[in-house]
Amino acid sequence: VTAARVRAPSALAAYDREDRRTRLHVRGRWRSSPMVEIETLLPRTGWFLDYGCGHGVFTLHLCATAPERQVCGVDVDAAKIDIARRAAATMSTVTGGAGSATFEVVERPWLPPPTPSWDVIVINDVLYLLGHAHALEVVRAAAGALAPGGVLAIKEIDVRPRWKFQWARFQEIVATRVVRVTAGEQVAFVPPDDLAAAMAESGLTVTRRRLDRHRLHPHLLLMGRR
Ligand SMILES: C[S@@+](CC[C@H](N)C(=O)[O-])C[C@H]1O[C@@H](n2cnc3c(N)ncnc32)[C@H](O)[C@@H]1O
Repeated sequence: VTAARVRAPSALAAYDREDRRTRLHVRGRWRSSPMVEIETLLPRTGWFLDYGCGHGVFTLHLCATAPERQVCGVDVDAAKIDIARRAAATMSTVTGGAGSATFEVVERPWLPPPTPSWDVIVINDVLYLLGHAHALEVVRAAAGALAPGGVLAIKEIDVRPRWKFQWARFQEIVATRVVRVTAGEQVAFVPPDDLAAAMAESGLTVTRRRLDRHRLHPHLLLMGRR
């Protein structure tokens, strides 16, 4: 267990004034997603888009770890964006560290427009909620919205090993249909080969990295550079 996971980072502390349900949800996201590892693999400066940012904990973590990043988080869930904005204000007041985070509500279906061109677009655990065709459409639009040298970072669940995949799928069905903490049309994990193919067809050079050591979820990070 890394030091960063033991110590509550400033991004997580920014939600301390929220209600219990929100605090639990944000802590759950922080624990279940390899946000610490992903952040270290991304550039330290530039314009970032966090597509489907939810409560914004990763968005704020990106700013907290490298203040030169200008990060915009977008999501279809207006209630989560409200919380993200409050957390950004709290983080600015307490640490002065989230001044460069902005949050926007977008209408579903939303595609990143080709301009402005982003240096980094992050899509962390969102595509599986969109359905296969829409997910690939978002990937192609995101690839087209990158500046030259820009990076598209997609964190999804791999379909292998099978037992880890089934466990992740079960949890997401509970989150979307039973507890309803996540807005999404469906749970349809897109095979990473399909995502990688869409990225490559859009002109990106693609690398894959598994991030599931000591984790139950088969986290996979696809990075595409323009
Ligand atoms: C599992 S959460 C991940 C949130 C965040 N990326 C994180 O890592 O904590 C999935 C998010 O995708 C958002 N979402 C679902 N459909 C979307 C769409 N069509 N466009 C943008 N965001 C969407 C949901 O509202 C939810 O906040």
